[in-house]
Amino acid sequence: MQRDSFLSDDCPPMGIYETLYAFKASFGQFMGTPGTHPWSQGFPLTTPLEGGPPLPSQVRVTPEDRLYPKAWGHPALREAICAHYNGFYGSRIAPENVMVFAGGRPGIYTVLAFLKKHVEVRIGNAEWPAYLDILTQTNTQWRVVPFNEQNGFHPPNAAYFDRAGLNHKTHLFPIISNPGNPTGHTRAGAELEELIALAEQPDNGILLDEAYEMFHPSRGVSGIRYVRDLDESNVFLAGACTKGLQCPGIRIGWIIASKRNIETLANFSSFGMGGVSHPSQLYAVELLEPARVARAREAVERHYGRQRERYGRAFRDLGLGVFTGDGGFYHWLKLPKGLNAGELNRRLFRHGAAILEGRDCDMARPHDKDPRYVSPYLDWMRFSFGPLLPESFDADVALFGKVLNEYRADVEAGRAAVV
Ligand SMILES: Cc1ncc(COP(=O)(O)O)c(C=O)c1O
Repeated sequence: MQRDSFLSDDCPPMGIYETLYAFKASFGQFMGTPGTHPWSQGFPLTTPLEGGPPLPSQVRVTPEDRLYPKAWGHPALREAICAHYNGFYGSRIAPENVMVFAGGRPGIYTVLAFLKKHVEVRIGNAEWPAYLDILTQTNTQWRVVPFNEQNGFHPPNAAYFDRAGLNHKTHLFPIISNPGNPTGHTRAGAELEELIALAEQPDNGILLDEAYEMFHPSRGVSGIRYVRDLDESNVFLAGACTKGLQCPGIRIGWIIASKRNIETLANFSSFGMGGVSHPSQLYAVELLEPARVARAREAVERHYGRQRERYGRAFRDLGLGVFTGDGGFYHWLKLPKGLNAGELNRRLFRHGAAILEGRDCDMARPHDKDPRYVSPYLDWMRFSFGPLLPESFDADVALFGKVLNEYRADVEAGRAAVV
């Protein structure tokens, strides 16, 4: 008999990894290996983009770099992150407003792990799958904000701060990926200014996840542009080298917040993390060199803007509903009537391809995917063009269209399951 595990029985993998594991079990190879079509994956190209800057190929490591890192991050990287925001967005953040983590997820996880009990999270119904796991595992209270065709997957800012039915003790803390994963909807300009003004009100805060900051026609979208008094706020901005700087593998991310909140996160690092790898932080300093980032912003928007536009057109031509906003590197798609994203995925697996099923992004679903729960997104899917080279466009569209049309024909002939 197997001994009872001392660890939680309630720790399934994040939805995107679940797709990866199901794909490996079906296709026999890991998604991302040559010959596979990683439409389910959220990584960017890690090779230079056309017209973009080169990516550093090495970093110098001295005996000093072999010492323990500072709990809050390498001073040079904290400075570089400040310059990144202050230079482009006209903000005035100081290194004491920056805490470095080993990627975007650990920063977000840590903020939620230390939220006080009377802080309630508000999150869009369709958001990045990892949030659901993080909210669950940190025992955070959350309510879902409707995301549907009626509101165009882009509810007004006020929907995140609706106090109906709350008592005065409850403080509100929206979590918003902006640009959004999976929808690509983006709050920018006056709408972002209003969002930040609401978040700076005394009983409110926000965790604005800006992992896709550079993937927008403006070449850069950040709430920091509109923050009036960061140190008197509960505004948290999450950033990373993962997407626009094209380096998910170096595992560098950060949280921008008030000095007091950063001190709490740094204290956590002192007993729970021990800082972040110096070689990775030094590499990130090189990535953030301002002239380099300026070129990267241009190249990211040129490449990904074009891919967003042409994949969108191709999906429309195939009869899908395209509900994507103007940012990010995903398409948020509604399958033709009756088709089910899970069944489509099983069929794609046989061809070495996969998408992310819409229900994985459903922030109202049970964490363990209880089969009795019916998600509103069973016929929705996310298509990622993040890792795709321009040259694969025709083959990608042809393969996707072939599998979709075969499934559609099977449904029409009564040979396949419908939603
Ligand atoms: C919305 C969102 N936030 C943050 C991240 C960054 O994650 P990490 O840097 O941990 O890979 C991602 C990556 O997929 C993301 O999609």
